[in-house]
Amino acid sequence: MYAIDTEKPSAALEGAVDLRSDTVTRPTAAMRRAMAEAEVGDDVYREDPTIIALEERVAALLGHEAALFVPSGTMGNQIGMRLVCEPGEEVLADADAHVFTYELGAAAALFGLSSRTVTSPAGRLDADLFIAQVRPRGDWHVVPTAAIAVENTHNRGGGIVQPLDELQKLWDWSRSAGVAVHLDGARLFNAAVATGKDLATYGRLADTASVCLSKGLGAPVGSVLVSSAERIAQGRLWRKRLGGGMRQAGVLAAAGLYALDHHVDRLAEDHEHARLLADRLGRDPSAVETNIVVVDGVNAPVVAEAAKAQGVLVGQVGPSRLRLVTHLDVDRAGVDRAVEVLGPLVAR
Ligand SMILES: Cc1ncc(COP(=O)(O)O)c(C=O)c1O
Repeated sequence: MYAIDTEKPSAALEGAVDLRSDTVTRPTAAMRRAMAEAEVGDDVYREDPTIIALEERVAALLGHEAALFVPSGTMGNQIGMRLVCEPGEEVLADADAHVFTYELGAAAALFGLSSRTVTSPAGRLDADLFIAQVRPRGDWHVVPTAAIAVENTHNRGGGIVQPLDELQKLWDWSRSAGVAVHLDGARLFNAAVATGKDLATYGRLADTASVCLSKGLGAPVGSVLVSSAERIAQGRLWRKRLGGGMRQAGVLAAAGLYALDHHVDRLAEDHEHARLLADRLGRDPSAVETNIVVVDGVNAPVVAEAAKAQGVLVGQVGPSRLRLVTHLDVDRAGVDRAVEVLGPLVAR
């Protein structure tokens, strides 16, 4: 499942309906043209106009002062958390959060941050559960809680959108408590499209927030971290230390700008496809809030293998749980094909 892969890399199955993740999209012809035509410069010298344009645009969209283009969501999250947490302090997050489940212990390995988890049903934020777990600064017996990381939408929670009232409650409490909020917004665009709220509605309820361009938006690479100008200046140093200072990376930022212009509203189509998939596979479509369908109660490796043999790729997130993610490269015919193949395999 997530074991170290010692096999030779394999080319993506040509023509397969790939529902493993929304990270598998390939740049469209129009996106590639935008990339080819991008004006570029050396971004370590802050001379790449396309990166600057992307950073300014995303900062404004999320209601923050400044932004930093980073190669991946992992780097955006890790720098974001480091900016609000000192070594020896802790970040609290949901037990299934990406930042602690899939980022290979980076917060500890790279930055000396302590992590503690709070179990919330399906990853859905309950502000009081977190508030009750916060440990104070200045008590020499305990690790002080510097930050809380929230994931929206929640990947392992099946793409659920975090409830705005709980986000607001956590934010209001955090201001007087002196605890920061980091938002892992890898799929924040999906949350915004699903709820009809603008990104700033969510962005303003976080001190640092990272959004991905390479998930549902279909860019090949890139995430953007937003925060105050002061923190982002520090973040730029951390990015360089981590080897993420890129040069003429405006070709990548151009893909992100193209995606912001052309691939945001269409996320509604992915959400519709996900509901359709759930419904036609005998699962509850009302449980699908965005572009992720969770299929429980199956022999995951057996179903995944059988589906792959018929050209449908699915993700395994547990021994009896599959994850199907819709995206730009799965059209209605792809959904139909997936139902045809998966239907008999996941029938209850
Ligand atoms: C919720 C969430 N956060 C962060 C990331 C990390 O993004 P990247 O793969 O670009 O490091 C992912 C990747 O799938 C994710 O799903």
